[in-house]
Amino acid sequence: MNIALIGSGGREHALCQKLLESRKIKKIYCIPGNGGTSDIAINLNIDFLNFNLLYKNIKKFKIDLVIVGPEQPLVLGIVDYLKKRKVKVFGPNKYASQLEGSKSFMKALCKRNKIPTANYAVCKKLTDVHKFLKKNRLPLVVKADGLAAGKGVSICKSKNAVINISKKIFSGKFKSSKKLILEEFLLGEEVSYFVAVDKSHFSFLGSAQDHKKVGVNEKGPNTGGMGAYSPAPILTKELEKKIVDKIIRPTLIDLRKRKKEFTGFLYAGLMIKENNPYLIEYNVRMGDPECQVIMPRLKTKLIEIINSVVHNKIKNIKIAWNKKKCMAVVLCAKGYPGRYKKFKLIRNLKNINLDNDSRIFHAGTIKKKKEFFSTGGRVLNITSTGNQLLSVRKKIHKIIKKINWKHGFYRSDIGWRVI
Ligand code: AMP
Ligand code: GLY
Repeated sequence: MNIALIGSGGREHALCQKLLESRKIKKIYCIPGNGGTSDIAINLNIDFLNFNLLYKNIKKFKIDLVIVGPEQPLVLGIVDYLKKRKVKVFGPNKYASQLEGSKSFMKALCKRNKIPTANYAVCKKLTDVHKFLKKNRLPLVVKADGLAAGKGVSICKSKNAVINISKKIFSGKFKSSKKLILEEFLLGEEVSYFVAVDKSHFSFLGSAQDHKKVGVNEKGPNTGGMGAYSPAPILTKELEKKIVDKIIRPTLIDLRKRKKEFTGFLYAGLMIKENNPYLIEYNVRMGDPECQVIMPRLKTKLIEIINSVVHNKIKNIKIAWNKKKCMAVVLCAKGYPGRYKKFKLIRNLKNINLDNDSRIFHAGTIKKKKEFFSTGGRVLNITSTGNQLLSVRKKIHKIIKKINWKHGFYRSDIGWRVI
């Protein structure tokens, strides 16, 4: 079969590599892909948000299945568009994608189903904000309602900060919505929990913990993710049961009742407080860099999982895992998440030899004349598996030293909670 894989991040490189384990797959077209995927698949430089153009190319290249990596096309309805034209596609429909695309949609679903989450108010004007401020204690969290590329959340320690950020959102700082969510701050440990979902069942698809802050010791601004490890040691059987019973199952049942079933990868961002899970956010896709640490641990072929979702047979397969632990450290361009330079040569990359436990997943890279250049803020994911995360991390740091990219930096303390 021929596959089109939408996206260009480290997540898509990891998915692409995992898909290639299957002999059933003849060709993978990465749309648009990156330097790493160009080595193992065929990159097509097409604007995937132009659904008409995408559809034309799906026909032209005889694509049998489309797999959608990032959230934006899902929230804009790529799945509904393609299904209408009889293209097989893996990912949630537009309605269900609001779990990620609209915080107010997600919060209302939680309220209807008594799903544990932070207390909140949807605010459309400043008087709504003042009302919430009167009744609740600081710190508070302000969230843009719509997609904001990871930049829509601010944790505020003062009333002034809440008001300033709220004003910016109301005046249209985030184009996706002028509404905001104000919610209580939850103190605890974060964990990412993944499931593969078909129309009537779901299966566990790994856990991970990532590091969103740019600096060592959780300092500095938020990023898309500076590194991750899997599995998350905090996840006991008892806790997992609570996550499934109180959060995942009621969410999926609610959508099924509306005949708007969620299908695809569902990612619950959770805060664990006194051994109880609270839903912070839903994502309707795999995480990045979480995907890069989950795929190397997965023994089952990825295409089997994806096909079983597409054919509504997830309950018929048993997903098997490698017992080893996995970590990814993200090598970023200096300046990220602020301004950074692009098109910097990563000279040593093509000469690095890796053992069977290690991989380099590309994110913001491009290949030109056999050389790799940076094109984004998060550039490479250096990933390795082993029995102990400390030695895994040491190995990753050695690889980074060999890459010796003078335009890059990384967080040296990924996994500090468990190491
Ligand atoms: P979100 O985009 O909703 O995942 O938020 C991004 C990050 O902000 C999360 O991963 C948390 O670290 C933090 N965060 C969001 N909501 C809360 C909350 N209610 N309490 C504490 N931290 C939060
Ligand atoms: N690593 C966080 C995310 O993928 O949203």
